[in-house]
Order: sequence, then C-alpha cells, then structure tokens
Amino acid sequence: MIPRTTVDISDEEKNAINRVIESGQFVKGKECEEFEKEFSSYQGVKYGAGVNSGTSALHLSLLALDLKPGDEVITVPNTFAATINAIIIAGGKPVFIDIDPETFTINVEKIAEKITEKTKVILPVHLYGLMADMKHIKDIAEDNNLLILEDACQAHGAEIDGKKAGQFGDLAAFSFFPTKNITVAGDGGMVISNNEELIQKIKALRDHGRINKKHVMAGLNNRMSEILAAIGREHLKKIDKFTQHRRKIAELYKNKLEDIEQITLPIEPRNYKHVYHLYTIRGNDRDDLKSYLYSNNIGSSIMYAEQLNKLDYVIQVAGIQNTPINEQINKEILSIPISGTLDIDLVEQTIDTILKRYN
Ligand SMILES: Cc1ncc(COP(=O)(O)O)c(C=O)c1O
Repeated sequence: MIPRTTVDISDEEKNAINRVIESGQFVKGKECEEFEKEFSSYQGVKYGAGVNSGTSALHLSLLALDLKPGDEVITVPNTFAATINAIIIAGGKPVFIDIDPETFTINVEKIAEKITEKTKVILPVHLYGLMADMKHIKDIAEDNNLLILEDACQAHGAEIDGKKAGQFGDLAAFSFFPTKNITVAGDGGMVISNNEELIQKIKALRDHGRINKKHVMAGLNNRMSEILAAIGREHLKKIDKFTQHRRKIAELYKNKLEDIEQITLPIEPRNYKHVYHLYTIRGNDRDDLKSYLYSNNIGSSIMYAEQLNKLDYVIQVAGIQNTPINEQINKEILSIPISGTLDIDLVEQTIDTILKRYN
C-alpha cells in the first residue's frame, strides 16, 4: 500500500532520546527551553511555550487571551475538530465563516458582517499548509480591536511575503503530532508570539498556574516532556529538507495532473509559500476515486469528513450556522500521498494510476 503519509524517525532522534535518559531530567529542563528558542526563532518570532499537543496550544492560548464565557471567536468549520473544541472548552462561542473554495481557508470578505460586540478573537486556520490571508485579517482585527490566534498546526514554515506563520497573530499554535511537517514522535505542541507577557502566562497555565514556584492562577499540567522536546529539536534541523521534498511532490502532481478536467488541484497564491502538509484535490466523483485508489493500493483520506458546524454539541453552543461552500467542498476533497520523505517512485506510481483512470 502506498501510504498517504510517512514519518521519518532516524538515528538522530533515537540518540536524542538517549541523551535525555542519560541526563535524568524528564520534565522542565533544557531541551524544552532550547526547542522553544529554536522553533520560535525559525518562525521569526521571539518567544515560545512548549506544550503537550496542538490542542493544548490552542486551548491555553484562548485562556491567555482571557476569553470569557459567551465571547465569540470567528473561525472556520473547515478544520480538525481540535480548533472548535478548544474554543468551546475555553468557554467561547465559535462563529463560522465560509471558506474560499480555491484556497480552502477563511473567506476574509465575509468576516466583517459577523463581527458583534461579543467578538473577541479571530482564529484563522492555515489549512493543509497554506496560510489564511493574514494581511487582510490583521487589518480587520486592528480596525475592530480584536485579537488574532493563528491555528498554524499544519503550517510549519509556511509564508506570506517571506513572513512565516506566527508573525501576524497575537499568538500562534503549532502541533507536532506524528503526521505533521515536523514531529516530536508523539503528541506535542507550541505557542509562539512576540508578546512576552502572553507567553509567560501560557507557561504558567501549562504548569499548574505556577510562576517562580508559586501558584498564582488556576492552571493545568500541559507541559512538553524533555524526550519529546529533544526529538523535536532534531526534527527541526531537517525542516527545510522536508518542506523542499513536499514542494517537489506537489510540483510533480501539478505538472502531471493539471490537465485532468474532473479534478481540481490546490493552488499556491502569489507571494505565498505553501508547505503542503496535505495535498488535497477536489474531484467531482470523489468517493469513486477514493475506492479506485484503494483498489490500486494507494492510501488517501478525507480531511475532514465531518461538517463541524453541524455536529450536535457544536450547535448547542453556536446555534445553526450554514457554510454552503464548505459543505459542497466536503463532498469533493481527497488528500493523496505526500510527506517530507515519501519515495518519489511511489508518487510517480500514484500519478500514473490517476492518469490511467481519466485517460
Ligand atoms: C488544524 C489543526 N488544529 C489543531 C490540531 C490539534 O493538534 P494536536 O493533534 O497536536 O492536538 C491539529 C492536528 O491534528 C490540526 O490539524
């Protein structure tokens, strides 16, 4: 079976695990501190707080932004459930904006009409490795006195005008789950920001509300462990190589598949750098295409199959909100094989199999 994604864990990561085991320091040590400095600096931002998942990164960010019960958070339904769950668990109400069908990200033209006196945060999702239109979102936030939390869980290294994810929002949340563009070989995440005060608050929230060993607020245990941070540091050294490989695969798909009328390929708008966390195409007979690929031993996934704004527990908090473009697109999307290390021969095989179906 050609996998939809692969994870590269090599000797460097294994040695990093041993390095931590030999140090005897498993939490609250140098590895997490160094990873915070190295990753935030890679993204071009001053500070980082390592946490135990991307979900925690979003949740603690919303707590740090002082979300109060009933505060509205403008976001999209086209994301992994964690984005919406973090808003609800933090006491907020998700307000859904439909997406742009070409980029799969928030339609910025539709944000203004949803702003009310309860709106506190705009939470755009940089889906599949392509950033949302952050320049526009920043203008809207400034004009309306709103905060921005970037869900950058799929966007390590993605750029607009040479500025990476995390450089636009008040805070940005990243995930290092195994399939992500870099991983800690487990669950892990990080919040990055140029705002030192917010990052200090997140560091307290992740550690039982402690600052300088004193409990000063209600907090959780959402720390990143040293072994995972050490693995993340090794993976970070390879990020540019992984991104280049993902972009090479995307280029192969584009060159070979773009003339097939029945499918639409993802786009990379001018001045954007797409890091292709997923390579998601749209097909007018998506379910048949998925079965066809499966019968030819090629893995693919529907990311994401559930329409989040239509789930009962979400409606209970957010009421009925419709996003017709996203609902249509959810019937068409299919993510086909890509990763930072996927064998190019397997990509060629995938391309040939798809071409055979439509020729
Ligand atoms: C867009 C998005 N947001 C949030 C998350 C949550 O990250 P994690 O799985 O590390 O909790 C993910 C990852 O799955 C994601 O893709």
